[in-house]
Amino acid sequence: MLKLSLAPAAAAAAACLLAAGAAQAQTETPAADNITATHEEDGRYYTADDIPTFHIADDGTVDWLTYSGYRRYHSECHVCHGPDGEGSSYAPALKDSVMQIDYYDFVNVVTNGREHVDSSNTNVMPSFGDNANVMCYLDDIYVYLKARGSGELPRGRPEKHDPKPDSVRAAEKSCLGL
Ligand code: HEC
Repeated sequence: MLKLSLAPAAAAAAACLLAAGAAQAQTETPAADNITATHEEDGRYYTADDIPTFHIADDGTVDWLTYSGYRRYHSECHVCHGPDGEGSSYAPALKDSVMQIDYYDFVNVVTNGREHVDSSNTNVMPSFGDNANVMCYLDDIYVYLKARGSGELPRGRPEKHDPKPDSVRAAEKSCLGL
């Protein structure tokens, strides 16, 4: 009822304040975190800091990038990092990594690779900088892993997903040089 009397933006702000509770009622903008989507552009979701993130609707429908990232992860990364970002004896659980390292570190490691050598092991993260099937889908893989790490996306193939946005289709074509 309250919402009916307010403009949409004001209603959203009011709902936000109600949810945040009295203690935070003074805060003008919601606290920035590395997970929560605060805005959407052409079917892509971003945090308050403009970092790509996932979106899962109340009925479990995931955004396109999360679904695409699920597929790309399982074709390019899971052989070492384990199914569903769960990790393996050889390589770390990326669903946890993305909750700890920042987006730019993620991009940097995937683009340039990393080698960890000690007396008993040599662990090699290959560089994917020349692999369009990874580089053109970095955000997809990243947001998928974040959805897994947040605990909001169960293991396995997401059952329902948003349709592929036209802008994503266009960006993909130009990235792949098609
Ligand atoms: C050939 C095996 C292999 C493949 C394939 C592979 N990785 Fe890795 N990756 C590793 C290993 C091993 C490490 C740990 C390197 C180290 O100890 O420094 C690693 C580390 C990483 C890290 C750093 C994690 C952290 O917690 O610091 C990221 C991010 C990462 N990989 C992303 C990816 C993504 C995304 C893909 C798929 C596009 C991928 N990897 C495919 C082996 C692999």
